[in-house]
Order: sequence, then C-alpha cells, then structure tokens
Amino acid sequence: MEIEQKYLIKDLFSKVDDQTIQELDGAELEFGGWVKANRFFGDVGFISVNDGSCFGSLQVVYKSTMADAVACRLGCSISCKGVLKYTPEAKQPFELEANEVTLVGGVDDSYPLQKKKTSFEYLRDYPQWRMKTNTFNAVFRVRSTLAYYIHQYFHKKGYYWIHTPILTANDCEGEGQTFDVYADKKHPEEFFNKDNVHLTVSGQLHVEPFALAYGKVYTFGPTFRAEKSNTVRHAAEFWMIEPEIAWAHLSDLCDIEEDFLKFVVKNTVEECKQDMAFFSQWVDKDLMARLDSFVNTPFRRVKYEEAIEALQKAVKEGHQFEVNDIQFGLDLGSEHEKYLTEVVYKGPIFLTDYPKDIKAFYMKQNADGKTVGAVDLLVPGIGELCGGSEREVSYEKLRARMEELGMKLEAYDWYLDLRRSGSIPHSGFGLGFERLVMLVTGMLNIRDTLPYPRCYKDMQF
Ligand code: 4AD
Ligand code: MG
Repeated sequence: MEIEQKYLIKDLFSKVDDQTIQELDGAELEFGGWVKANRFFGDVGFISVNDGSCFGSLQVVYKSTMADAVACRLGCSISCKGVLKYTPEAKQPFELEANEVTLVGGVDDSYPLQKKKTSFEYLRDYPQWRMKTNTFNAVFRVRSTLAYYIHQYFHKKGYYWIHTPILTANDCEGEGQTFDVYADKKHPEEFFNKDNVHLTVSGQLHVEPFALAYGKVYTFGPTFRAEKSNTVRHAAEFWMIEPEIAWAHLSDLCDIEEDFLKFVVKNTVEECKQDMAFFSQWVDKDLMARLDSFVNTPFRRVKYEEAIEALQKAVKEGHQFEVNDIQFGLDLGSEHEKYLTEVVYKGPIFLTDYPKDIKAFYMKQNADGKTVGAVDLLVPGIGELCGGSEREVSYEKLRARMEELGMKLEAYDWYLDLRRSGSIPHSGFGLGFERLVMLVTGMLNIRDTLPYPRCYKDMQF
C-alpha cells in the first residue's frame, strides 16, 4: 500500500536556504501534521502546523467558514491542501493559503500539553507526548543527527561497525555493576548453562578481536550499568560508541578522539540550525559560544599527576572540595573534574596516565609500575565524556594483572588468547552518547536526552 504523499515542511525550509523557494510560489501543495497553535481574527484564521520533519512550522491561513480548521486545537492532527505563497516580507518566508483543512484526529481532555511552558521534569511523566514540545522535538532530532554523523565519520575513515552482543558472561569494567539475565529465576543457570549471564557494560572486549582483524572498528549500541548513582549524568541504560584502533598508541588515540568529536559536533550544529537556535534562546544562552570553542580550540593534554598538583594547589589556596584530601590514587569526583575543566584549564582536557588501581584491568601498564595508559576526556559542564586507553598487549602482564585482581580467568580465556597470536598495539575509547547529546543541546539532565530514560529508582513505561 502506498502512503498518502504529503509535502514536507523541511523541504520548504531547505528551499529557503538555497533560495529556490520562489519556484513554489503559487504551487498547490498538501501537508499533514499536528497543530501547534490556532488563532483567528474575524474572517481569517492561522494554524501553525508541524509535521516533525524539522523544527519549523508552517502557517496555514484559512477562512473562518472552514469548520474543521476552526475546530482544531493544540495537538490535533490535520491534513491540509492549499496554495503556497512566498512571503519575503513576513516573519516566515512562506505560508499556505488553505483550500481544504481536514481534522484527522482530535484531542481529548486527557492531553497534557498546553500552550504555556511546562517543566522538563513534569514532561518526564509523558514520554508518549513530550517529543511534541519544542524542546524535546529538537533534542531527539539532534540525537538522531549526531548518530548519523558518528557513522559517517567512521565510514569515511575506513572503520567497520561491529555489532557486539548485549548478553555476555564478561564484565568489561570489572566493577560488578551488572544486571543479571536468566529465563527462570529459580534456575538461573538453566537456559545458558551458566549462572553469570548479564547485560553488557561495554562492547570493548568483544570488539577488540575485530580490531585485530580489520584494523579499525567501532561499536554503537546500548550498554547497561547497575550503578546506584542517582545523578544527572548516570543512566542504567545508555548508548556507547566504542572505536578500537590497531597500531594506535595513547597519543594517537587522543588525536582521533578529538578529530572525531569535532567533526560530529560541527556537522550536527550546522545541520540542525533551527534546533540549535531554539536551544541557545531557551535552554542555554552560552551554548553556541561553548560549542564554537569546543570545535575550534585544541583540547589540552594533562597528566593525572599534574591535575593532582593543580587540585592540591587549589586546596592550599583555600578552595574547599567535599573530598579535600587530594593525593595520588584519588579517584577524581565530579567536583574535581569540574574544577579542572572550568577553573584551572577552562576547556576540555584529556587527562592521561591514571593510577592503575583506579582503572580497569585491560589498560597498558606504564613503565613506572604505578600508572596505566588511560585517557579520560573531561568537558566543562559534563564531566567525563569519554573513557579509554591503550591496551595491555603483553600476555604475561595482562594475565598477572587479572590474577592480581582476582578475576575468574576461565571466563576471559578467549580474550587473553588475542595476546598470544598476531598481537599488535591497539587502543580504544568509549563515548557516552547521551553525554554528547547533553553537550550539544545544553540539556542538563541525562533523563531528558533519552527517549525512555532508565535510571536508578526510575523505570517507568
Ligand atoms: O569510562 P567507561 O566506563 O569506559 C568503558 O566502558 C570502556 N570499556 C570504553 C572503551 O575503552 N572502549 O565508559 C565510557 C563512557 C564514559 O566516559 C561516559 O561518557 C559513559 O560511557 N558512561 C555513562 N553514561 C551514562 N550513564 C552511565 N551510567 C555511564 N557510565 C559510563
Ligand atoms: Mg570512565
């Protein structure tokens, strides 16, 4: 069955951008969408209709004798036919003079959206509706566009996308913060002949073998953490992008990470002009300046030890952190990360060479015996955006570290095997997708970047 053809509002706006909109002046066109506003003054009325193809709406001008048009209110779906008018002098460069407006779906009294501003928190109770508000309509469009440019970047650079599993018996980050999976609660081992199957916390262990066969690969999929963190940056289900690159050492990894993020942010901001204009007017006035600096300023590279010294200096000079005992070995909290990016370095920083005791088992062991080749990208307002490392490729060293940490080696045999045959240096990182969406939209809560957020103590719908 063919679906009814409608003209997309997005195509009107692109014709404005490339200055060909005059061609449509006088054309008979048909649109369909949802009513954002309806006003009338005497004989004429104006419906603002949005079809979701872009942020902008179409103004439909109608005669008050058109009963369906008069009856439309916020949230109704309509179909309308009419003549497009090019209106260069008006606020909107075009409008539709309607010949026909059909009310397709009315709204009943349970519809929660109103013309007045509603809080993001209130809207979290309505995931079925909130994407019809200006803010969320823009958020999920930007989210989709970011995903597109992520794939485009990797495709252009010769990476292959590997679909790593969601069910696994490994715990990549070794933190034990996993959600268990079984078919039968009473006999958890029955289905897989294993009682330690859970949802993956990261695709890294499963993508590394592919990097050692294809050279450049990445994952992009959902990951799950049973971390009891009730913060604005932690979700129990979030999406992660994890490139893994053969032959790359730590500094190459930083180069790639920076180039990748700048490409994705720059292209998304350019493509989502209307959405970005909305965010900078209504969500965060400094957004465009911040993103401009993100795209155009080199990220500083700072060693963990230097960062500790900078924090110690701050304490000496009277700054109070909640955790004020700053020593080598401290797992930096968000207050420290915030201070480093916002006060000390005033911009994104790659923080490298962390103490091995606060990082995962797979990271390259540095010659000093106490640090590893780790890198976290810390960003003002967000904190940790990416976490990654060069990988330990020596079989003996990796195995010794795993033993030291008391890991069950049987579960990781297959992974350790990589270091026995055809092993090469390689590095990778993980980007938290929702934190990237927060960065680009200026939204302050991760719950407002996920279509259906799943967070600690918060799982509806
Ligand atoms: O730093 P993480 O734990 O690194 C890894 O999982 C590595 N295996 C990645 C790799 O090297 N391939 O997580 C990576 C990123 C973090 O920097 C953060 O942006 C995001 O994932 N992240 C979360 N985002 C939302 N909610 C959570 N609970 C998150 N935990 C991590
Ligand atoms: Mg991390």
